[in-house]
Amino acid sequence: MSPTPASMSDPRAPASYSWEATNEEVARRSGLPVDLIVRFDLNTSPAPPAAVKQLLAFGGFETGLSEYPPSDYRGLVAAAALAYSVPEDEILVGAGADEILDLAAKAFLAEGDVAIVPTPSYAMYRVLTEQRRATVAAVPRQAASEDWAIDRPAVRDAARTAALVWLCNPNNPTGRLEPPGLIEGLLDELSSDAQADGRQAPVVVLDEAYSEFVGKSLLDVRATYPRLVVVRTVSKAYALAGLRVGFAIARRDTLARIEPYRPPGSVSTLSVAIATEILGIPGVLAENLARVEGERARLAAGLEDAGWRPEPSVTNFVLVPFADAETAAQVAEALLAQGLVPRTFPADHPLANSLRITVRDRLENDRLLAAARAIEAGR
Ligand SMILES: Cc1ncc(COP(=O)(O)O)c(C=O)c1O
Repeated sequence: MSPTPASMSDPRAPASYSWEATNEEVARRSGLPVDLIVRFDLNTSPAPPAAVKQLLAFGGFETGLSEYPPSDYRGLVAAAALAYSVPEDEILVGAGADEILDLAAKAFLAEGDVAIVPTPSYAMYRVLTEQRRATVAAVPRQAASEDWAIDRPAVRDAARTAALVWLCNPNNPTGRLEPPGLIEGLLDELSSDAQADGRQAPVVVLDEAYSEFVGKSLLDVRATYPRLVVVRTVSKAYALAGLRVGFAIARRDTLARIEPYRPPGSVSTLSVAIATEILGIPGVLAENLARVEGERARLAAGLEDAGWRPEPSVTNFVLVPFADAETAAQVAEALLAQGLVPRTFPADHPLANSLRITVRDRLENDRLLAAARAIEAGR
């Protein structure tokens, strides 16, 4: 007998993160070979940096594979400190940004606490909050016409009783950057409200997974808001999602609260070695950023020509709204039939009428554009 999934046997189990279909499932449904399936749902890059091939051939990494990585990841920390221009003792390494978010939830959320999520945003904030048996206060963002900006007064208000605020800038899945000064102003307000009420300000986790795409970061704000944890990753702009390497950057006393939850050696020796090298190679980042920028403009223009209305984006994905949720679901099905996997949103999600589409390489994007034209021609 197969085991009962936890969520069926335990009514208190939190909802899990929901993925799109696997390549094998899509291949089966579409009748296409599995290597023709393209992931437009994961905000990843089509290929790792070219330097990785050289490193794997000549890096001599295999000698380290019988050992655990160094417990303090010291070489990787040093490379990240240089790449992000921060002191080494303000960096903590995790298995991707996702593990960092998980550690932050463990360190700063207890049962019954409230965590704010300006909504829509990255789905893991809710999953992780609920895993701690804490509650999400979802604060709706402003309209698409207002760049989906955080509703600053509403977040400020809700944060009076919150232990943690999850922020994401640029935001996934909207692909926009917050207006200049909004987050800094909000943090000032959170500090002064806490001081006036005689309590600690909430911890703010600022997820900057996509910040390299805009060349802007609020890392320096930790100087004025000590309970800020900035999250970075090599998954997106560095095109290394498969390595699973991410970082928390925060002031030492804040980082010290997370450290006890860090598992020993969750990042593999090979990932540590490759990320350490790549972070130090000039030009790796610029190459991928240039590819994304060029292809994003071409993809958006092609989608417009096909009759879709992609929203502006500063990231490696675009959000495409349709007339309603039913139309979005039909378009998703039609794309899947071509082996192209978009990111969909559940029926009760504020973006149920939209699909999120990753900027891939030229050939893959051309397949998507051809599919979009065919779908529109068939209506
Ligand atoms: C906003 C955001 N944070 C974190 C992650 C996870 O990043 P990582 O691959 O570093 O775990 C993603 C991945 O899609 C993301 O969109």
